[in-house]
Amino acid sequence: MDEPLTNRIRLLDLHPPKANFREDALAGLRADPKSLSPKYFYDVRGSVLFDAITALPEYYLTRTELAIMDQHLGEMASCAGPEVSVIEFGAGSGLKTRRLLAALNDPIAYVPVELARDHLLDAAETIAEAFPMLEVLPVCADFTRPFQLPDPDRIPRRNLIYFPGSTIGNFTHRQARDLLQVMYTEAGDGGALLIGVDLRKERRILEHAYNDAAGVTAEFNLNLLARMNRELNAEFDLNCFDHRANWNAEAGRIEMRLVSRTEQVVKVAGEPICFARGEAILTEYSHKYELGELAALAADAGFEVARVWTDADSLFSVQFLTRE
Ligand code: AVI
Repeated sequence: MDEPLTNRIRLLDLHPPKANFREDALAGLRADPKSLSPKYFYDVRGSVLFDAITALPEYYLTRTELAIMDQHLGEMASCAGPEVSVIEFGAGSGLKTRRLLAALNDPIAYVPVELARDHLLDAAETIAEAFPMLEVLPVCADFTRPFQLPDPDRIPRRNLIYFPGSTIGNFTHRQARDLLQVMYTEAGDGGALLIGVDLRKERRILEHAYNDAAGVTAEFNLNLLARMNRELNAEFDLNCFDHRANWNAEAGRIEMRLVSRTEQVVKVAGEPICFARGEAILTEYSHKYELGELAALAADAGFEVARVWTDADSLFSVQFLTRE
């Protein structure tokens, strides 16, 4: 009889401190300028909206990354080599992870690392079901800080860190360098990193991607206010805020904000928060890189760019980085 799935999934729970939405939201709304962390986008509703974003005609990122992978998976697998342990920063049960695992030569373990325990276990189960021969070793941890890795039964030839989706873009340059340093540590001797990185391009394409015609990105952004209403007893009227996403060419990033349409006072967890007309809450940065910029950042963390795959229009890149 087949072993039940849970027997092959070994959870390493490092009990990361829980994010405190109330404290973080109030601190961000008291500050000048106001801000909210993009990590709070992804409640159940926000995750559904993000999935919808990835299928939008204007949002080129996901389909372009998938197309690059489909075209070059063979080369990616030969760069990685046989018998690797795949350590994914974030729990990805999605298409990209499955295609990568299917292309690799005898991968020995899949190690997703994620703060949200339920999401982590769901993703681990999906992968275990699709790859019955693979050891699945989820780690519940904050991947922005060094963490303990589990020991697979078989010894891997190398650790392959996987970080798709250009999530690196949602970190400031300094945070991105720190995160790459954590990846360098977790990769260990001879380890490597396969990373999806969105590239700089003309303003029109970028601003369309974050201001889609169907208004899904606007709803995703406004869901932060709806989430505060649901969870923090806040009293935001969503009709009194506009979604805004602008390309800041100097900083090389899309900046997403929620802008107050009127002068208003909104209670959040019992605390009155004042907004001037036109005042904005910064909700997200999405950095876009030149290839050289990313290479310099990677070098700061000790990585060398060994291979870069892009699409014909150079919209997006998938990069293979090795430890120097
Ligand atoms: C998750 N991350 C890479 C997305 C991005 O494009 O920066 C989040 C997103 N924000 C608005 N649309 C998508």
